[in-house]
Amino acid sequence: MSRFSAILLLGLSLLTTPAFANEEQHHLRTPQGGWPQSGVFGTYDRKALQRGFLVYKQVCAACHSINLLSYRNLAALGYNEEEVKAIASEYTIKDGPNDDGEMFERPGRPSDHFKPPFANEKAARAANGGAYPPDLSLIIKARHDGEDYVYSILTGYGTPPEDVKLMAGMNYNDTYPGHQIAMPSPLSGDDLVTYSDGTKATPEQMSNDVVQFLSWAAEPHMEERKRIGIRAIIFLMVMAGIFYAAKRSLWRDLH
Ligand code: HEC
Repeated sequence: MSRFSAILLLGLSLLTTPAFANEEQHHLRTPQGGWPQSGVFGTYDRKALQRGFLVYKQVCAACHSINLLSYRNLAALGYNEEEVKAIASEYTIKDGPNDDGEMFERPGRPSDHFKPPFANEKAARAANGGAYPPDLSLIIKARHDGEDYVYSILTGYGTPPEDVKLMAGMNYNDTYPGHQIAMPSPLSGDDLVTYSDGTKATPEQMSNDVVQFLSWAAEPHMEERKRIGIRAIIFLMVMAGIFYAAKRSLWRDLH
């Protein structure tokens, strides 16, 4: 193997090696088939993103905000303008003040940010026994092994081992640090949502889809970033070849 290809291989393997999982702290699971968005060439699966948005909207949004998204961002999932408008108008947004100085309510518009379930953190805690459901905008980036971690939280509920005593209002989860989580299992039964593409809504399927949606929410421009990266690498390889050929031709007469 030439030195050049050895360096190339090392570079490529560094690019594709995932971060090491910390298995001692919590159990991590990856769905069968892995994540379509991971790896150097990974892209989002638009159908899965739409299914995941439905799960967020109908289940998670009862407790969790996604403050960094606006309804118009959903166009990236393949919804057309009319569909985005229809989704936004399902929400009632507080706006104002109007000319009389009063706040008023109106149907949501594509430019509105996702409507949060609670007015503020205190209201969110009061409704959740003191625990705070974090904003999910960047949760995939904010946790180690983001996708696997959130997928494992969602699929990690069960009955506690005999030596574990749950505190009041807590649920056993094999992934959450300390194994006691205030969030009740959000996706424990089949068919909590009805997918329009006919996919069966099992807890694993819904968990998988909503994690892909959250992954997109945390990095909507991931595909563009990878495309630019790949082009840059090809460009650098071509340039390296040209410089190598130029060097050989320039030095030929001096040997
Ligand atoms: C009934 C309210 C409720 C619903 C519905 C709910 N959650 Fe939660 N969630 C919480 C609370 C409360 C916490 C904080 C847990 C704690 O502090 O123990 C939490 C925490 C989390 C965490 C953070 C774990 C961490 O490492 O901090 C994630 C991720 C999460 N929820 C995802 C989801 C997803 C995805 C859904 C929808 C499938 C969902 N939640 C539905 C209440 C909810």
